Amino acid sequence: MTTSEDIADTFNTFVMPTYAPKIALTRGKGTKVWDADGKVYLDFLAGISVVNVGHCHSSVVDAISEQAGKLMHVSNLYYTENQARLARKLSDISLGGKCFFCNSGAEANEGLIKLARLWGHDKGKYEVICMNNSFHGRTLATAAATGQSKIQKGFEPMPEGFVHADYNDIDSVKALINEKTVAVMLEAVQGEGGVVPADPEFMTAVREVCDENELLMLCDEVQCGMGRTGNWFGFQGYDVEPDAFSMAKALGSGYPIGAVVASPRVADVLQAGKHATTFGGTPLACAAALATLEVIEDEGLLARAKTSGKKLSQGLEALAAKYEHVHGVRGRGLMLGLVLDQPAGPFAARLLEEGLITLATADTVVRFLPPLNIKDGEIEEALEIVDDCLEEWHSGEVEEPDDILEEAVVEPAAETAETEPEPVAEAVEAEPEPVEEAVEAEPEPEQEEPEADIVKEG
Ligand SMILES: Cc1ncc(COP(=O)(O)O)c(C=O)c1O
Repeated sequence: MTTSEDIADTFNTFVMPTYAPKIALTRGKGTKVWDADGKVYLDFLAGISVVNVGHCHSSVVDAISEQAGKLMHVSNLYYTENQARLARKLSDISLGGKCFFCNSGAEANEGLIKLARLWGHDKGKYEVICMNNSFHGRTLATAAATGQSKIQKGFEPMPEGFVHADYNDIDSVKALINEKTVAVMLEAVQGEGGVVPADPEFMTAVREVCDENELLMLCDEVQCGMGRTGNWFGFQGYDVEPDAFSMAKALGSGYPIGAVVASPRVADVLQAGKHATTFGGTPLACAAALATLEVIEDEGLLARAKTSGKKLSQGLEALAAKYEHVHGVRGRGLMLGLVLDQPAGPFAARLLEEGLITLATADTVVRFLPPLNIKDGEIEEALEIVDDCLEEWHSGEVEEPDDILEEAVVEPAAETAETEPEPVAEAVEAEPEPVEEAVEAEPEPEQEEPEADIVKEG
């Protein structure tokens, strides 16, 4: 049997050290994943909001398998039915208008930025106002759009045309508008920035400011989209519509696909020859996405994200009330952050040892992004693990967090592989021992049915 250690050895020898993995995962089903040594974990990260319908959902697996035997790729020089159907569906559930397909979140955001620049080009407008603490990707342009200097450090000079306002502060947005401004770009809920939702008044004010100044409002829905917050897209939890938005992550349930949706007003800005990508919207990727959207509808996952999100946030709030080092809970739907009063990396590492996968972000926040069809029992199980680990920490049975942190790298947000992939916290994140009693011989055979008491989406 190939053990976690074998995998880690080969991996660390031949894969660039841009991430610092701690465990080797080999299979998944629903909310559970198994490592190479047979230990089972509750996945409350879902591939960082990718596996929103749960791991290896049978409908998505079947759609990919069937399409793979029919037609995988022909290039965008030809019509393909799945791309047409997917574009129509995404248009229907959001802005109307048209779609452009690509492969990742960063690429979708590049598409958004290019659309805005082309739209403003003849008027000499190209500057995009982005938000501090935002995250938009790792390409040069999206790193420049990202409002975190650590993402840009070492790669300067950055592409020009991006300035940063304070999130939830409309005056700081207004102060940056000038004759070069073409758009305002933001996340409805900042994920990497610490699970911070936009204030409703702020979203409304951004829309108004854009209308008054002839700017495009662009939303990055890469993390908060695809049902995560209880609506198809995060902005739908507000009383506004952007002119265009990006998505990726959960769209293909793990099969890479991203998209830009542009409202009718700007749907035809990108004309033939202006933007392209070889793998954008292949029949295979679109089959995965169509199946994912169908599962979200059939299992009523938008409503479930709200009800399960409420259950999880109430449970976390009770823990916040119980424990001194927990400041509170924030987020929307099943995009939740537990805010600690110290760096969260070591605590997330402890949860991992106990079989609960989460992710520390923005220094002090433990992020919870479970699949949207999570079962009540799994939420209860996860809350028990969090409770036990908080109890252990507060009772001083283990090293005081301060002691732990001295050994760990305490660079802000150092724990977040996505935003700060330096090897971190080796001191505390020892490889989990193969845990015999946690071994479950086989993943559950089928995707569990949604619970009966869950409200179905229309
Ligand atoms: C809000 C947001 N935008 C963009 C990205 C970049 O997506 P990708 O890693 O697929 O390029 C991410 C990734 O975490 C994200 O959270």
